[in-house]
Amino acid sequence: MKILVTGGAGFIGSNYIRQVLAMEDGREIVNLDALTYAGNLENLKDIQDDSRYTFVKGDIGQRGDVERVFAEHRFDAVLNFAAESHVDRSLHVGVDAFIATNIQGTQNLLDASREHEVKRYLQVSTDEVYGSLGDEGYFTETTPLEPNNPYSATKAGADCLVRAAGHSHGLEVVTTRCSNNFGPFQFPEKLIPLMIANAQEDKPLPVYGDGLHVRDWIFVEDHCAGIDLVLREGKADEVYNMGGNYDVPNIEIVRNILQILGKPESLITYVEDRPGHDRRYAIDSSKIQRELSWERAYAFPQAIEKTVEWYLSNDGWLQNLRSGDYQDYYRMLYGERSDAAEGLDLA
Ligand code: NAD
Ligand code: TYD
Repeated sequence: MKILVTGGAGFIGSNYIRQVLAMEDGREIVNLDALTYAGNLENLKDIQDDSRYTFVKGDIGQRGDVERVFAEHRFDAVLNFAAESHVDRSLHVGVDAFIATNIQGTQNLLDASREHEVKRYLQVSTDEVYGSLGDEGYFTETTPLEPNNPYSATKAGADCLVRAAGHSHGLEVVTTRCSNNFGPFQFPEKLIPLMIANAQEDKPLPVYGDGLHVRDWIFVEDHCAGIDLVLREGKADEVYNMGGNYDVPNIEIVRNILQILGKPESLITYVEDRPGHDRRYAIDSSKIQRELSWERAYAFPQAIEKTVEWYLSNDGWLQNLRSGDYQDYYRMLYGERSDAAEGLDLA
């Protein structure tokens, strides 16, 4: 069996590829990745010479790149991890890349999958397509799509195209919608690796607004195991939610990281809020648990310790990413917020 993984040089895709190859079940993987700022071949260094693994540099937003990889390989399944994935970039840098990759790129993969008679297409989506919850309740698979920022709007658009390819053209499609992931190889623009990296360097930890926004956190390996289960056993045309059953305010996550690192809470710096910041996400994972017997292997307290340890022992990986272009991005995003942080130099 040969599978196409797109975006495999990113955080979740690289963890997924490593997990599948470790199963040694005869699968071969082709990784199609454009190597944007978030794609890093260092994430796959340990498996780069594995004969079951092939890397192809290419952009899913470009039909020619997609057609070329489908012409060279015969895929049994396609898993689309590739995306512009950061809400703050969609708000402060620009939406074009989000539309090109998340929407056009998804359609290009659906078209090629249909044309080449791929048996199964899996879309890696997100709980953010559901919008924001009030103080009560959980997202289920039937919660209406109400995306509130450009990132989640393009992911919701992609989900609709996936649904349409199944409904209109009979392509066998499945979709997963997961909550916030954390773990090794996450780019340090996202909350958990950013806070670990800043705390380690005794830099301010920029918490948006009142810090009481709630996210549900899941260890990346549990998400990847769920994706693989849906690929193999999920019902065609169905959506499966996954969450970590750990929905807590951001400030609690930040305090937890400081405590593990033995750093003072005085590093916490409240900054101007993200525009349109979704207040609360919480996921009902009962469908995938009931229908596919999915179970999480990790509880948050152990997984966060494991994650902090990974960042401490992979400081070279982190420093490579935090140099160069990242510095400009950080100054642009957090420099603007310095006023709200009472003159503290966040950048
Ligand atoms: P990431 O930003 O770490 O990685 C994205 C990868 O896609 C990178 O390797 C990048 O080079 C590649 N890519 C971007 N544009 C591309 C293009 N046009 N063509 C080919 N490759 C391209 O993202 P991630 O956190 O690993 O997320 C992976 C997927 O999971 C995304 O679809 C995201 O929406 C979804 N998701 C993420 C989370 C989370 O918490 N990180 C939660 C739920 C769902
Ligand atoms: P993030 O990791 O960007 O994921 P998402 O926006 O996809 O949920 O952010 C997680 C939460 O942390 C979100 O409520 C925004 C907040 N946050 C901060 O408070 N400070 C930061 O510097 C970042 C990056 C995020």
